[in-house]
Amino acid sequence: MRTPIIAGNWKMNKTIEETKEFIAALKDFSLENVDAVLCVPYTSLGILREQLNNKIKIGSQNIHWEENGAFTGEISPLMLKELGVEYAIIGHSERREMFGETDETVNRRVHAAFKHGITPIVCVGEKLEEREAGKTKDVVKEQTEKAIANLSSEQVKKLVVAYEPIWAIGTGKTSSAEDANEVIGYIRKVIANQYDSQVANEVRIQYGGSVKPENIRSFLSQPEIDGALVGGASLKPESFMALVEGA
Ligand code: G3P
Repeated sequence: MRTPIIAGNWKMNKTIEETKEFIAALKDFSLENVDAVLCVPYTSLGILREQLNNKIKIGSQNIHWEENGAFTGEISPLMLKELGVEYAIIGHSERREMFGETDETVNRRVHAAFKHGITPIVCVGEKLEEREAGKTKDVVKEQTEKAIANLSSEQVKKLVVAYEPIWAIGTGKTSSAEDANEVIGYIRKVIANQYDSQVANEVRIQYGGSVKPENIRSFLSQPEIDGALVGGASLKPESFMALVEGA
């Protein structure tokens, strides 16, 4: 049985003061049989570590593959570890589209995360034109295979993949739960072909793209979907709590 994982991706939102307000508004909500993660801007990591109820795990939105050096603007796995980071989003479509992230750099970051005991949340997903051209499966296959290249089976079992169709991100449009389930089932097959089905059955694969408290159950009731990576709806404490409880 795979434990569902709900991860909030705050993107470039919330100052330290706003982060404190968010934490203060969290109630003692139930976290049974679900993992909850908040992936916040680097500036909010410290306050999360100090003030967050430790049932919720801390995540970053990127991670570099080197431990230190001349990489202006990047963040090292050692720095993230020091701040209590346990998960790192890698290869988000916004990084791929706006900041030159490639399948090769995604793979390097994934290896670095594992080396430092940080669980990667690897994002894959197709653009609208790729979906309309019937290329969804080809796109997610290539992104998945390259992201996990040369990992050990034990590492892959711990991996989290987030399937986020780009046209569903922040648009209010969602994939149907059935479609998302089909693509996620296909990603699992890709992993099974690269490793084996036992490994693939342990990988947690989330759906992401306009997930809200009102629709999360429809996604999580699908057999292949193991949680959600949530942007906008993770910014309000009450809706983040509702998402976690909905799981
Ligand atoms: O990583 C989460 C994301 O890209 C989805 O964003 O705002 O559509 O939930 P949103």
